[in-house]
Amino acid sequence: MSQTPVLASSRAELATLLADARPGPVGMVPTMGALHDGHASLLRTARDRIGDGPLVTSIFVNPLQFGAGEDLDRYPRTLDDDLDLCAREGVDIVFAPSVDEVYPGGPPQVTVHPGPVAEILEGKTRPGHFRGVLTVVAKLFGLVRPDVAVFGQKDYQQLVLIRRMALDLNMGVEIVGAETVREEDGLALSSRNRYLDPEQRVAATVLNRALRAAQENASYGVDVALDEARAELRTEHEVNLDYLVVTDPDLGELPEEVPPGTEARILVAARVGTTRLIDNLPLVLGRNDGER
Ligand code: PAF
Repeated sequence: MSQTPVLASSRAELATLLADARPGPVGMVPTMGALHDGHASLLRTARDRIGDGPLVTSIFVNPLQFGAGEDLDRYPRTLDDDLDLCAREGVDIVFAPSVDEVYPGGPPQVTVHPGPVAEILEGKTRPGHFRGVLTVVAKLFGLVRPDVAVFGQKDYQQLVLIRRMALDLNMGVEIVGAETVREEDGLALSSRNRYLDPEQRVAATVLNRALRAAQENASYGVDVALDEARAELRTEHEVNLDYLVVTDPDLGELPEEVPPGTEARILVAARVGTTRLIDNLPLVLGRNDGER
């Protein structure tokens, strides 16, 4: 399906378009633009869920989720290409507001407190990041009132937190996590991959190799899985590891003894040059006795 989406840049325009939209469940994919095949897959997932209902995407580089020294100013802004992708994916409404439109009174005084899961992993190096993410997502949900919203599993901690927010604050929206889309060599698609030079781009593939090594060895337990992943990561000197952890699917700590068949998640973050990359995969754990 290819159609030109209607562009709304103000809250008032968005409200009018939503009021005039086709009946049916409203699907939403919030983004920061610089759209790629990963976003296209989120849009397809949303479309599958809502049938002929209106599909809305937002394109907004949210200053509230960037810390000092992060890439807010250089974050890629590619609205024309983004609109082409939205047309190809059958998006009905693109909401691309200015910062003033989203935060009319300046930075908001009331924000979403994301709770303890925001303090670990990404939250440790990016204080305030998830407060910014949840605040803008809550505001966007308030404006669009979607029935279904789709987020990528690549930003796994973000997905877990948004799910929790929707549940804890009774937002009445179904949160769907869509599988990570990868390049042929396993690198997870990300708007930040464009910062990598050719050598760094090759080095970055070690993240997915490490996660797959863990996945392949998960039947031997957490310790073996982590050892295998670390060994793989050590083969790339360009890659500076920030964290490599195995958690339960909600990012909680696993108990010391887990029954075979326990579902878990392995997450990695590393800096390649000045670019910080993250990735994760599901694991099914076996016994943790270190024996193979
Ligand atoms: O994942 C993103 O692109 C952003 O964090 C989001 C969810 C659109 C909020 O700004």
